[in-house]
Amino acid sequence: MVAKAVGVLTLLSLISAIVVTVEADYVRPPPRPTLRFPWNPKPSSHPNQICSVILDKTNLQSQVHISLAGENHIRITWITADKYAPSIVEYGTSPGRYISVAQGESTSYDYLLYSSGKIHHTVIGPLEHDTVYFYRCGGDGPELQLKTPPAQFPITFAVAGDMGQTGWTKSTLDHIDLCKYDVHLLPGDLSYADYVQGRWDTFGELVQPFASARPWMVTEGNHERELIPFIKDGFESYNARWKMPYKESGSSSNLYYSFEVAGIHVIMLGSYADYDEYSDQYWWLKADLLKVDRTKTPWLIVLFHVPWYSSNRAHHGEGDGMMAAMEPLLYAAGVDIVLAGHVHAYERSKRVNNGKSDPCGAVHITIGDGGNREGLAHRYLYPQPEWSEFREASFGHGELKMVNSTHAFWSWHRNDDDESVRSDHVWITSLVGSGCVSERRQVRRKNLLAV
Ligand SMILES: [Fe+2]
Repeated sequence: MVAKAVGVLTLLSLISAIVVTVEADYVRPPPRPTLRFPWNPKPSSHPNQICSVILDKTNLQSQVHISLAGENHIRITWITADKYAPSIVEYGTSPGRYISVAQGESTSYDYLLYSSGKIHHTVIGPLEHDTVYFYRCGGDGPELQLKTPPAQFPITFAVAGDMGQTGWTKSTLDHIDLCKYDVHLLPGDLSYADYVQGRWDTFGELVQPFASARPWMVTEGNHERELIPFIKDGFESYNARWKMPYKESGSSSNLYYSFEVAGIHVIMLGSYADYDEYSDQYWWLKADLLKVDRTKTPWLIVLFHVPWYSSNRAHHGEGDGMMAAMEPLLYAAGVDIVLAGHVHAYERSKRVNNGKSDPCGAVHITIGDGGNREGLAHRYLYPQPEWSEFREASFGHGELKMVNSTHAFWSWHRNDDDESVRSDHVWITSLVGSGCVSERRQVRRKNLLAV
């Protein structure tokens, strides 16, 4: 057992060394240290803040987060140390009066010397739109509350990628909490567990006050992979803990899926799943794009981890393969906005396609500046490409307010000295509104996307 542990540690050191070597060519400012648990030992005013001890036998449930799970349904996920704890959620629209109950499923996993708690996934609904629900998990424990998204515009997304669990992460989350948002979109790199499984638990505790109150829709980044050749497949912990509505959207993998909310079709792609024209993801994407009805969902938004349009030196060119395979599909379908992470800085493009400004292309936004322990990516390519509208290496978050079927307001908020400063903002007109998704184009779209 000891020899095995030493072998594994050596392997992990080797993998870490490779990662450090790859990322050592750019200079980042001093990162803030990883937070120590408990994050907030004093009682908080946040309704969903629970001062619990992770997986203590006396703690009935921890790491609660919620996600959209098909029309008018929400998946509640939580973890218990008790392997016999039931996967039930009681809920209702008045405090303490739970008129509905839902039974879910559970899973768990082992990772080297670590054994996870019991991970519960329970779908509740059908739910009313734009309504506060009070709920509790496992038949006991504290009452939490969530708000469902609205049925119609306006709706607001909070957006932040590459979160981690540092002082900067806490700063970003506190700023997001000041925003009246409906759904959080996270384009990859959540906990930065990087093989140390306890970090998944501490991340779950850190984000619970936010992720148990509003749906968090995530896709995977490289820090979720945790692949150990011949020993562990990639994304085992991520898939067990952050189950997204892939089955509900006809996908065979938790690494890519789609959902619809209040007039917006959102596609979450996987930068670390196969994406070539023979891959399952490619064919699923074609089929999903064909299903989009722009009269019902006039906005089309796509998220993935590795950006296609970035003028930062960090990770430059890493997204080229996926872009070559999939950008023609997104262009044909008339995707409005693409949100990515991975590069620890902020950048917003003009509407762009095939490397050039194009009024019928997507606005690409890189927002991998949530606050991770690796710090910021400061070095840019010069001259700034013509398609690059705004770029800055600071921690922060984005807010995307979909005002109506033709207009959205995007703003980026820098965590400047712990003051949330709105540093960049722009009105975005939908491609439906600008005539790029016309009937003539729809015929071409159908031909290209035909499965
Ligand atoms: Fe990344």
